[in-house]
Amino acid sequence: MQRAFFNLLFVSLVVSLQACVAVNSAVVADTPGLKTLAAFPIGVAVNVASAGAGIQVSKERADLIGRHFNSLVAENSMKMSYLHPAENNFTFAGADALASYAHQHGMVLHGHALVWHSDYQIPVWMKNYQGDWEKMLASHVSQICAHFAGTVRSWDVVNEAIDDLHPAGYRASIFYEKIGKSYIEKAFIAAHAADANAELYYNDYNIEGSQGKLDFMLRMIDDFKSRQIPLHGIGFQMHVSSDGPGIAQIRKSFKAVADRGLKVRISELDVAMNQQRQFSTFTPAVAAQQKARYKAIITAYLEAVPPAQRGGITFWGLLDGDSWIGKRYQRPDWPLLFADDYSAKPALSGVAEALTGK
Ligand code: XIL
Repeated sequence: MQRAFFNLLFVSLVVSLQACVAVNSAVVADTPGLKTLAAFPIGVAVNVASAGAGIQVSKERADLIGRHFNSLVAENSMKMSYLHPAENNFTFAGADALASYAHQHGMVLHGHALVWHSDYQIPVWMKNYQGDWEKMLASHVSQICAHFAGTVRSWDVVNEAIDDLHPAGYRASIFYEKIGKSYIEKAFIAAHAADANAELYYNDYNIEGSQGKLDFMLRMIDDFKSRQIPLHGIGFQMHVSSDGPGIAQIRKSFKAVADRGLKVRISELDVAMNQQRQFSTFTPAVAAQQKARYKAIITAYLEAVPPAQRGGITFWGLLDGDSWIGKRYQRPDWPLLFADDYSAKPALSGVAEALTGK
């Protein structure tokens, strides 16, 4: 209680100081660690190309992560093709190094993702697989879950299985084509059998913005619940922008999942600011707009999801320059909480203010 009060005091002090400076500032680096402001995991995606690389490569990076986050996720290195490059060969070294880094630093590790349609992520051997797909996929899931049992606390078991078409439906992924829609529930069953303690999530994008996609997913959840499929939570990726989706829709979508008794994670949060390509630099006005947007999103999460169902919030990268958004859309953008010189952006204060209920 007392701690919360001091945190609040500290955040207000930092926020007022921040008003005196330009856009980003070393001063804001004094914002209390986000992880001290929440009772649920606050995470960040990190790139770990190989064992020992990644967050350990720079002291500034490691320090910033240690200060603000108590949960990690591999931005890429725990995806299918990296972990399972040949039918009988798993490359766990990089992920094991990340797991022990997390453990040594008192952080939890979230696993992403056991089954994902994205073409470059499906190992070539799998694309060409001629045997029993149902068995093969279950074995892929269960071998990975068994390996990380006890070190990975929660998994994105299936990622992006629903497409955005109107009406929304199951994505015509290779898994869907080979097995049918039951590949989704079978992946959850296999994961649960391999590690009964892991929290199992279905993860997707645009479920906070498209009512049709949300409704389709809710029907899937209700069906899974009625048949006791071990699904424990939903990951809302939340690659959102300053333009949308509207905050009421976001809140309503979180609530619809929470009302079903499931956990809710914000799993890949970033807030793109330059989707119209109208900016060449990150101005104070854009920074202020981004701060307000981050604050509104976190506030909506806290309003819609009861404490026991908050699976946590993960930001999809640390520094703006890490972000996949600029690369993917070939434009300058500044979607994350920290600038490339490691200084905190106003967005960080927006998140802190939301977490402390300011
Ligand atoms: C992205 C990574 O950030 C990029 O580095 C990579 O090139 C492509 O994948 N949804 C997901 C994430 O579930 O795995 C994606 O991550 C972003 C969209």
